[in-house]
Amino acid sequence: MSSFESKVREALANPQNQGEIPDADAMGTVGSPECGDMLRMWLKFTEKDGKRVIDRASFQAFGCQTAIAVASMATELLRGKTADEAKHLTASELTGDLGPLPPMKIHCGQLVEGALRNALDNDSPGAAAVETGTMAPTLASSLQRKAGGTLRIVPLD
Ligand code: FES
Repeated sequence: MSSFESKVREALANPQNQGEIPDADAMGTVGSPECGDMLRMWLKFTEKDGKRVIDRASFQAFGCQTAIAVASMATELLRGKTADEAKHLTASELTGDLGPLPPMKIHCGQLVEGALRNALDNDSPGAAAVETGTMAPTLASSLQRKAGGTLRIVPLD
């Protein structure tokens, strides 16, 4: 087993920050029409030393193990970051201890990055909590598959 695979396995043995944050300030959902995987991320902010920083980040994934492992790492890394700092994290930084993703798995990291960016774009206190109530039941059904073509990571309404 490669060291990447063993790190993924390790992260999956104890994934961090899974599940909804009911009173989240922001939520982002993306789906990959190519592989059929989806990921939703919630962010909760707090005030620290006069700055608004991420207090908690969580995720729910309908996706592959790599996406779950990356989301677990990323949600840990996000704690204490401002929205601006979070916005500037690249997909490869979000993988944390997993290190660079193999070429076939790059889009799994991009799914996490996409959910984060979508959440940051939707950042308005209280908005996510309201939306979650109406969106959650349609999450799986809202994914659209696209036949052929290139990979797209799309924000979902
Ligand atoms: Fe699609 Fe990993 S295979 S997110």
